[in-house]
Order: sequence, then structure tokens, then C-alpha cells
Amino acid sequence: MNARIPGRRLLISPGPTPIPDAVLHAMSQQPLDHGDPRLDTLIAACEQGLKRLLRTEASDVFMYASNGHGAWEAVIENMADLGQAVLVPGTGHFSEQWALQTEALGRRVVRTPWREGWPIDPAVVEQALRDDKAHAIKAVFAVHTDTSSGVSSDIAAIRRAIDAARHPALLVADVVASLGAAPFAMDDLGVDVALGASQKGLMCPPGAGFVAVNARAFAAAQANPAPRFYWDWVRRKSEISYRKFCGTAPQNLLMGLEAALGLLFQEGIDAVHRRHALLTRLVHAAVQGWSEGGALGFFAQDPACRSVSVTTVTVPEGTDVDALRAVARERFQVAMAGALGPLTGRGFRIAHLGDGNPAVTLGAIAGIEAALLVQGIPVGGGGTQHALRALAAD
Ligand SMILES: Cc1ncc(COP(=O)(O)O)c(C=O)c1O
Repeated sequence: MNARIPGRRLLISPGPTPIPDAVLHAMSQQPLDHGDPRLDTLIAACEQGLKRLLRTEASDVFMYASNGHGAWEAVIENMADLGQAVLVPGTGHFSEQWALQTEALGRRVVRTPWREGWPIDPAVVEQALRDDKAHAIKAVFAVHTDTSSGVSSDIAAIRRAIDAARHPALLVADVVASLGAAPFAMDDLGVDVALGASQKGLMCPPGAGFVAVNARAFAAAQANPAPRFYWDWVRRKSEISYRKFCGTAPQNLLMGLEAALGLLFQEGIDAVHRRHALLTRLVHAAVQGWSEGGALGFFAQDPACRSVSVTTVTVPEGTDVDALRAVARERFQVAMAGALGPLTGRGFRIAHLGDGNPAVTLGAIAGIEAALLVQGIPVGGGGTQHALRALAAD
């Protein structure tokens, strides 16, 4: 199990994603004492970097020693009182998990239906809000990229839907899977709260969740009497590091996050987005090629909604996806993901997210193609050549 792997195994799961060496090195420093001003500088650099990446000047960033579920919990606890309602538009697995967590915390959830392979329909969101004449719905919780289906929704269209319905609900965007891969501009989009986590486009280990909260959302949290402590934004709004984290900060993760943000800004955010778009094109070309074998296909029906983070590939009924993944991982050193929730067993996922480049993506595509051949899954004339041509044509 722990035998050395010659070379590197290609990790192409949509989180956790590969960690750049510079981030690993940054994390391997000794922690700081609580009174060291370098700790304040480190925290401020992470807050400023996240604000810059989220393109918000009007928000406060609160960070947690948590994963994405922790950031979800922070939003739920601050945005709605016990018994109050939020609207969760269906995107698949992740919208449903967020909705279930919201209900488990004693809030009510209004759902709009999930249409498999399609993004959130803003017209349906608008209607649900128009139907809420008493304005019982306090917020709309929208998943930007659903990491299981690989479908991205149009956050600007959801903002327009809320405005068209003349509804005061706050707009919360989950950018866990999209931040650092797809363009996102919190202030321009009119997003009131954005939430994310460290282990995807941010190229860090799991363990740092965060939210950016504008003044309107902060005021709503202030007025919300729901009992809470660790997640409370009002309690965390402090200049004192210890308070900002409601205790000891996850310092080494923050050292990694500061380094990772530095790498993104050094490359340039537009360039980072272009790189993700290119790697996505390579994967799309490969899937298109494989699909000619009649067995595989895109889960996301509308090409415009296929995310630049991850591509979900459908397989024929009865395919042993775990066996396919095991062959890819153990024989060819390509670690890809299965599909989750309602898609379990119906597909596999190729991530093009985080610290990637064409060589890694091409290697992954070739390894997956080899695994498909081993498992006897038809791939037509193959997809690797298509990906190569797409790269050469770029
Ligand atoms: C879109 C989205 N939101 C939330 C989560 C939950 O994050 P975590 O697994 O870090 O708790 C994930 C995890 O993959 C995700 O993809």
C-alpha cells in the first residue's frame, strides 16, 4: 500500500487538488506565538487576497478552521433564524446536501427542482420568490458549480431573478468549486455572501473555509437572534487574531493560503482562468472523441453550462465505475473521481481544477483511455488524439 510510486500519481479529482511545492514549503514553517505581529500580517494577507480573488471591496472576510460544510454552516446560522426559510435552487448533489444541512439546523427550505444535466433555471427561481408574497424567504443559497454534475449556473441571472421578483432575499453563492477557475466578481454580481474552501481552485490542503459578507448580509446577521457561537460573524468581526478565529488560527494552513494566493496573482487571474478554459477544452475534446464509441457522454447537456472545473462523463448502465477508477489509479497512476449522490455509479469525473497544466491533463486523459480499454468500454477512435489536436490548435 505504501510502496513508492515511481514518478507522480496524477490527482485529477475536483478537490482535494494537487498542492504546488511552494505552498507545501510555506506550510512547513514553525507556528507563531499568538502575540507575534507576523500572525496579524499573515491573516490580513489572506483576507486581502481572498477579497481580491472574489473581486469584492464591500465585504468582510471571515475564515474558519473548517471545510466547505463549515462555511455552509456559517451561512445557515447567520442568515436565518430557527424556523425561517431559505430558497435552495436545485443543482444536484451539492444543493441537496446544503438544503439537508439547513433543515437539520432547524430552518425551512423551499426547493426548486433539479433538472438533470441543466443549470438553475432563473425563471423558476423568480416564480418561487413571486409566490412568497409574505417574504418569508430570507436568502437564496445558490451553488455556482455543482461539483458532482460538473454544471455551472449563471449567478448574474439569479440576481436578476431576485430583483425582477422585487424580493428582499439575500443572495448567497457557493463558489467552493469555481473560485480560482471561473471568473467571479462578487460586488458586480450583487452577491451578498460568497463562501469557499481551501482545497480546490485555491490549491491548498482541506481545512480552511471562508465567507465574504457584504454590509447588507452582515446587518441581517446582526439582527438574527439564532443561538450560535463559533460561526457567528458578529463575534468574529474583531481586530484581534484570536477572536477572528474564535480561538487558535490554523496558522500553517494560512501560510499555505497566502503562498497559493500569491501564485495565482503572480500568474494573473485572467491567465489562471484562461489556463482552466484550455484544460477544459482538452478534456471536452477527449470526451467528444470517446463518445463516438456510443458508450460515454457529457452529463452536462448544454455546452455553455459545462464547468471549467470538472467534467462529468456518463457511462452505460451496469458499468463498474469503481473498478474503472481502480484500474486508472493503480495501473496507470491517474486518480479521478466518481460521481456523487444521485449520480453515483452513473459516471466518472475528470477535474481540470487548480494547479494543472496541459501535460498533466493529457497524461490523465491517456491514462483514463487506457483504463477504459482495459475495462472493455468502447471509446470509438479514442479521445487522446482529439485532446492533442485541440492543444496544438490552441
Ligand atoms: C460546490 C461544493 N460545495 C460544498 C462542498 C462541501 O465542501 P467540503 O467537502 O469541504 O465540506 C463541496 C465539496 O466538494 C462542493 O463541491
